[in-house]
Amino acid sequence: MIVYSVLSRKGGVGKSLLVRSLAVQALIEGKRAAILDADPQQTIVSWGKRREAGAPLIVGVGGRTIRDALAEIEGRGGEVVFIDTPPHAEPIINLAAEVADICLLVTGPYPEDLEQVGAVSSIVTALDKASASAIILNKTPAKAHAVTLARSALTTFKSPTCPTTITQLVGHPYASAEGLTVQEREPDSRATKEIAAVWKWINTSVTPSHRPARTPSHRARAAA
Ligand SMILES: Nc1ncnc2c1ncn2[C@@H]1O[C@H](COP(=O)(O)OP(=O)(O)OP(=O)(O)O)[C@@H](O)[C@H]1O
Ligand SMILES: [Mg+2]
Repeated sequence: MIVYSVLSRKGGVGKSLLVRSLAVQALIEGKRAAILDADPQQTIVSWGKRREAGAPLIVGVGGRTIRDALAEIEGRGGEVVFIDTPPHAEPIINLAAEVADICLLVTGPYPEDLEQVGAVSSIVTALDKASASAIILNKTPAKAHAVTLARSALTTFKSPTCPTTITQLVGHPYASAEGLTVQEREPDSRATKEIAAVWKWINTSVTPSHRPARTPSHRARAAA
């Protein structure tokens, strides 16, 4: 199972949006995707209640540790799991970064957003996970100048920045209101293409901090 922790000290930058969008993207691509909602706001749990589709599997932490909740998800067949985390809560950000195979640092494009990236970047770097992490720019404007400035500011950090940004588009909150993601509500939209491109880039350009255990079928093929 690969664990993706979605992190940001700043509130409202789009952690929960990224979690549910990537989980649905993984589902679309045939993976058994799950979400661990580690945020007391329970944004993803609420989204799941608005949702008719039974997947992705959504699990809350409850009174358990994050590791115990992950063990439940693995026991239920999860192949990829996305952890949604709260803002302003360093203990949970630390714990989620610790259990992550890949850390995704979400930020908006403006100075007030960018100046908060350093706090999470330091946690990821202290865990020696910078090469297993990436920065995702969300809520970007349609015009490119602010994005160019943001990219330039983000070169300070060891984590690479995804070349595709997620544009601020109303399709995202409209989809959320219906318990969906943009890929399900607007399959041919720009928003959908951006989510698919972000997921593809993460899979091809970010190396998990540990390789998932080889499955019996892999071993059988290797032995043949
Ligand atoms: N790219 C986008 N385009 C339009 N709206 C967006 C986009 N990303 C996020 N939003 C909206 O912004 C609001 C905040 O997003 P979200 O809840 O994902 O942020 P968050 O980082 O999880 O917040 P919190 O820190 O409170 O957990 C939501 O209403 C969401 O639908
Ligand atoms: Mg959230």
